[in-house]
Amino acid sequence: MTHPSIVILTGAGISAESGLGTFRDEGGLWAQHRIEDVATPEGFARNPALVVDFYNKRRAQAHEAVPNAGHTALARLKAEHKGEVLLVTQNVDSLHEKAGSTDVVHMHGELASALCANCGHRWNAPLHMEVGEACPACAQPTARPDIVWFGEIPYHMERIEEALSRADIFAAIGTSGNVYPAAGFVQMATYVGARTVEMNLDPSETVALFEETRPGKASVTVAQWVDDILNG
Ligand code: OAD
Repeated sequence: MTHPSIVILTGAGISAESGLGTFRDEGGLWAQHRIEDVATPEGFARNPALVVDFYNKRRAQAHEAVPNAGHTALARLKAEHKGEVLLVTQNVDSLHEKAGSTDVVHMHGELASALCANCGHRWNAPLHMEVGEACPACAQPTARPDIVWFGEIPYHMERIEEALSRADIFAAIGTSGNVYPAAGFVQMATYVGARTVEMNLDPSETVALFEETRPGKASVTVAQWVDDILNG
């Protein structure tokens, strides 16, 4: 295959070596906070201050974080690979962009963005959001973090599924395979005959569905994998 089409899915594990905590590893975010409280529309309706504060802290951490060799290798792949590369991330940080990747598909939203719960307008979030900030478009006090919460539909699904339907290679990096629809991408890719590879520290929930696994830290495994792809 001269110029394979590649779809990459990243998760919290790729940002772990940049100091951002994952969700389900020991001591991870979901051990410290209840999903129902901070990552559902109902939680936000009950206690918006708690939710805004949770994402303010995460935004501040992400703002300070610097990309690692895993992010950098993917930016290099996007720049140098002659075929298509679609980089899809479940992460809400901007480390792929900080490493130089453009057109990153943030399927679970972004800390850098604010969303109006009233009219759907989006704008750049301030580093510190306040509860009840006014939307610049409709002036209602209905600003919220632009994060896809449990019970909401992930962004850009049509574009992702379209790319998966033409993929020659699908790679999942640093994701535990617990959250759908992302956890189902490996099956879609397998269905169209793509080669599938998992790069994760621990085997994911869906490891058995992958043709190849490259266990280890993303800073090492992703850099090696990108070298292998670019060197044919
Ligand atoms: P998880 O915390 O569920 O999984 C992170 C995975 O990364 C684990 O399987 C670890 O083994 C692996 N890992 C940790 N350090 C690593 C490293 N240095 N190199 C490679 N792998 C490493 O995070 P996600 O799968 O991203 O959604 O979670 C998916 C979604 O669940 C998130 O987007 C978030 C969460 O609830 C929302 O908030 C909507």
